Amino acid sequence: MANVQAFAKRSLYYLKQLQWRCLSSTVLSHMSKSPLLFDNVELASNRYDIQRGNFAKATQQDINYFKDILSSQSAVITDAEELIGSNTDWLRVVRGSGPVLLKPENTEQVSKIMQYCNNRNLAVVPQGGKTGLVGGGVPVFDEIILSTSRMNNVIDVDKISGTLVCQPGCILQELEDRLDSDNFILPYDLGARGSCHIGGNLSTNAGGIRLVRYGSLHGSVLGVEAVLADGTVLDCMSTCRKDNTGYDLKQLFIGSEGTLGIITKVAIALAQKPRAQCVALIGCNNFENVKQVFSSARKDLCEYLSACEFMDSKIMSLVENHLKLTNPVQTSSFYVLIEASGSSEQYCKTALLDFLETLIESKVIKEGIVADNSVQIKDVWALRERVLEACQHDGYVFKYDVSLPLRVFYNIVDDLRSRLGSQAKSIGGYGHIGDGNLHINITCEEYNKQLEKAIEPYIFEWIGKYKGSVSAEHGMGFIKRKYMNYSKSEAAYNTMKGIKQLLDPKRRMMDI
Ligand code: MLT
Ligand code: ZN
Repeated sequence: MANVQAFAKRSLYYLKQLQWRCLSSTVLSHMSKSPLLFDNVELASNRYDIQRGNFAKATQQDINYFKDILSSQSAVITDAEELIGSNTDWLRVVRGSGPVLLKPENTEQVSKIMQYCNNRNLAVVPQGGKTGLVGGGVPVFDEIILSTSRMNNVIDVDKISGTLVCQPGCILQELEDRLDSDNFILPYDLGARGSCHIGGNLSTNAGGIRLVRYGSLHGSVLGVEAVLADGTVLDCMSTCRKDNTGYDLKQLFIGSEGTLGIITKVAIALAQKPRAQCVALIGCNNFENVKQVFSSARKDLCEYLSACEFMDSKIMSLVENHLKLTNPVQTSSFYVLIEASGSSEQYCKTALLDFLETLIESKVIKEGIVADNSVQIKDVWALRERVLEACQHDGYVFKYDVSLPLRVFYNIVDDLRSRLGSQAKSIGGYGHIGDGNLHINITCEEYNKQLEKAIEPYIFEWIGKYKGSVSAEHGMGFIKRKYMNYSKSEAAYNTMKGIKQLLDPKRRMMDI
C-alpha cells in the first residue's frame, strides 16, 4: 500500500509539472476547410499511374438537373475555389477535379442523383467529413462529389434499449455531446471526432481507440440504409440486436468505402457511459516490455481496460517538437497509454495504481503518471491523438496502417529504419497495440517517388509473409487498393469482384 501511495504522490508530482493544454478535437475540421492548404497539391492523374474510366463528363444540363432536384442553391457547388477543398484529401496526397459538389438532404434526393448519374454514366464519389487517410473520399479524376454534410439529423435515440438512429452526415463529436446527458456513448471513438461523419465511420469501418473494449462496428451497427449505384434504396434498417434472417447485407456497407453504394441511414447500439475514467502514461525501455504491459493490463484491469495505445520515442519527439506538447514521463524508448474506465471510481483508480505498482516492482516499467480528471485525461490523450498532425508538420508522410501478430509487431519498424537509412527524415511507429494495429509513418521533405519505391511493395510483402493485414483500419481507398492481394486470397478477391459487379456493374463508384 505504501508503494501505491508513493507512486500516487509521484504521479501527482509529474502531473504538476505539466502545463495542461486543452485538446482541440476540431483541429481536423479547421485544417480541412482552408482551400489555401490544398491548391498546390499535384493532381492524382499526374502523380499516379492511373487510367480514367469511360465515363461521361458533367455538362451544364446535368448541373441544372441537380439544381432542380436539390431545393437549395447552396446544395449545388460549382465555384472553382470552393471545390478545391472537396477535391483534395486532408493528407494532401490525392487531388481530383470534380466539377460539382452536391449536398442532398435526404435519401430520396440521393436516390434521384444516383439514378440520374447512372443513366448519364457519370462517376460519383461519396464524401463525409473528409478525414479519410487513403484518398477514398475525394475524386481521383472528375467524379461528381456527393457530400453527406446536410444529412445530419438524429432520427431517434431509444433510451431504454440504448440505440441511435441517424443520418450519415452527423458529426461524431456532436453525437457524443448529444448522447452525454443520457449517459450513453458511441461504441467507438477516434481523434478525428470533431470532423468525421458517422456515415464515413461506417464506410471505412473506423476502428479508433476503444475497439479493444467494444469491438468493431461490424458488431455494433444494427441497421443500414444505402442507395446503390443505380439509385435503388436498399433498406436494411433495424434496431434489433438479433436478426438471423438470411444474409446480413448491411455488413457489405461497413468497410466497403463507398464502392457499393452510399449509406443514407444508420442504426447503432450505444454503450453505457462509464462513470469513472483514469489514464496512465507509462515509459518502457524496450518493446518486449510494451507487450508485457498490454498482457498485464488485460489480466489485471480486466473489464476496466478501455484503451491500450503505444508510441515510440521518435513519434513522441515529433509531438513534442512540432506541437509543443509536454511529455510528462521520463524520456523512454516507448510509451504506453492505458485507459481504465467503468462504473466504480474508487475501483478504477485503485486498479490502475495497483497495476502500475506491480509493473514497477517487477521492473517491467520505469515509471508512469496517472491522470484522473477530465482536463488531465484530455491532455494525456492529446499526446497520442495528435500524432497524425505532428507528422504532417514534419513533411510529406507515407502512412501505413497494418495488422501484425504481436510477436513480430515492431520488427517491421526497425527493419524499415535499416532499409531506408537517411532516405527518410523520420520513421516512427505507434498505434492500437491492444488491437494488434500498428501505424508506421515515414516522413520526407516532399513527395519522393524513389523513397516510395524503396518502401512499397516491400512493406506489403513483409506484412503478407506474417499473414497480417495491409489495412487494419484506414481502408484501401484509392492509395492502397492495388495491394489487396497481399491480404486477400484469390478466391476471396474474386468473390468481392462478383459483389461489385452485381451492385455497381458500370463501376461508377470507386473500384476495388
Ligand atoms: C490514429 O490512430 O491516430 C489514426 O488512425 C490516425 C493515424 O494513423 O495517425
Ligand atoms: Zn489508428
